[in-house]
Amino acid sequence: MSAGQKTLKEAVDSAFGSYLADPVTTMYCIGSVVGPHPFPMMVRDFQAVVGSEAREQFQAMTGWLPDHVVACVGGGSNAMGIFSAFIEDPTELWGVEPLGTGPALGQHAASLAYGHDGDLHGFHSVLLENPDGSAAAVHSVASGLDYPSVGPEHAYLNKTLGRTHAAGATDDAAVRAFYTLSRLEGIIPALESAHAVAYAIELAQDRPYQSILVNLSGRGDKDIDFVYENYPPERYA
Ligand SMILES: Cc1ncc(COP(=O)(O)O)c(C=O)c1O
Repeated sequence: MSAGQKTLKEAVDSAFGSYLADPVTTMYCIGSVVGPHPFPMMVRDFQAVVGSEAREQFQAMTGWLPDHVVACVGGGSNAMGIFSAFIEDPTELWGVEPLGTGPALGQHAASLAYGHDGDLHGFHSVLLENPDGSAAAVHSVASGLDYPSVGPEHAYLNKTLGRTHAAGATDDAAVRAFYTLSRLEGIIPALESAHAVAYAIELAQDRPYQSILVNLSGRGDKDIDFVYENYPPERYA
């Protein structure tokens, strides 16, 4: 069955819909730290393997902890996974939201930066909402980041505890980072992950001589055709 505008929020709506229609014979597995308890906790705990291995490997390679950890935030699972290993450390944690094409509602999906308290998909967090309180339409060049909220733990860590920073990268900066990492390192990042790379490049210029661990949440093979057709490489030489 096909429905909606191919957005992440609609995919979650639809998955919850079928689960609730037949909860006895249906198993619900979600890919981000959103939804009602215990889903955000379960997904975080699975993704935390990446955090604990990255922490161990970083220390083995350098003898130190990173000064900064940078991860993109759609619903927030890859960021929660890597952040969770560093919560008790002095490491600064940066969640990079999609700033899309501009600051107006509908042009981005930066819920920590622009959202307000709200409820979606059975959890309480920050929400980008229309004047009537419904979830707003959002945009990002990365389809995995176009979600009008973030997992509840992100809202808690950022708004309540002030433990994480909310950062951002525009569509254009993410595409530029996509090309930069591909050209310089031969690593093609997913467009989602390219947001983290874009912000890490900015941070490295602001904080020279500090170490930055970037979470590459996925590979960009899936995005090559789209990027090549819509953002031709000669524009990003
Ligand atoms: C490669 C990749 N990175 C990141 C994300 C964003 O999700 P999350 O914020 O839950 O890590 C997605 C979502 O589909 C993705 O495909």
